[in-house]
Amino acid sequence: MKRIGVLTSGGDAPGMNACLRAVVLTAHANELEVIGFQRGFNGVVDQQYQTLSPYHVSGIIQNGGTILKSARCAAMQTEEGLQQAAQNLHDLELDALLVIGGDGSFRGTVALAKYYKGQLIGVPGTIDNDVDGSDFSIGFATALDTALDAIDKVRDTADAFERIFLVEVMGRHTGYLAVAAGIAAGAEQIICPELASELNLDKIADHVEQARKHRGNCSYIIVIAETMYPGGASALAADLEQRGIECRASILGHIQRGGRPVGADRILGTKLGAYAVEQLLQGAHMMMAGEINGQAGLYPLVLTGDKKKQVDSYLLRWQQQVAQY
Ligand code: F6P
Repeated sequence: MKRIGVLTSGGDAPGMNACLRAVVLTAHANELEVIGFQRGFNGVVDQQYQTLSPYHVSGIIQNGGTILKSARCAAMQTEEGLQQAAQNLHDLELDALLVIGGDGSFRGTVALAKYYKGQLIGVPGTIDNDVDGSDFSIGFATALDTALDAIDKVRDTADAFERIFLVEVMGRHTGYLAVAAGIAAGAEQIICPELASELNLDKIADHVEQARKHRGNCSYIIVIAETMYPGGASALAADLEQRGIECRASILGHIQRGGRPVGADRILGTKLGAYAVEQLLQGAHMMMAGEINGQAGLYPLVLTGDKKKQVDSYLLRWQQQVAQY
């Protein structure tokens, strides 16, 4: 093995730079050349790339975003796009491609295997933490802290006005971030895909009323995962107001993707980046480098999007039972 490619794909996540740094340093130590593709798979299809040396990754471990930039790539959903990507990788004589991203990026990687003859490996990088095969994905810990910082501030004003707030957090298909942020912020209610069957306006309103019966006028925070209510948190706030429950909606949005990565994400990014390169040298192919119970390990890429990864059901159940008191 002489030359490997690397890219960051899908929603960017704090800690991706730490991972890139580890990939480049590990490759350099093993006399491998690294080509970095820009804007995810778009850089492969459109041939936008640069050689990455240790110089390029010095001083980036503390920065959010990704020096390679990130994007989703529509071309990777077409046979022509996949063939073009594979052709370009072959032309560059790349022995392997390392993809840092989430389940959508790994679906593209798996599809690429039909045409690309080199080794393929993934590293989980997404604030959603919805990738099977790793306890945590790079970026989740930082996004959680960012969401908590915001919700704690919302709590201050909610307390002062004895108000009800709906705080919308990211997580397209999963409530991992919503549950973690809701528990850690002491939210009174959490609305997430894992409780979707229990979601209805009557129940939500009833819970608020019960809490106010027990505690009198008080602050009350509902953490809601995006896509859980048609029209989002603002629409839900409007519907609750129709029932005489005055509340405010606060949508955290993309701030959750930015910021300096916390220590846990820098360490995870470093560990998985280094491990992925070492495993490529051992011949790993169609695998994701993840971490389970503190141990780095490989997990089949084709299984990473099975969406079986569970939120903490114990904490969620506990929160449902006690939060109104
Ligand atoms: O996958 C990460 C994520 O931030 C999701 O939580 C969110 O649904 C999505 O990306 C937002 O995507 P975009 O940046 O395209 O709006």
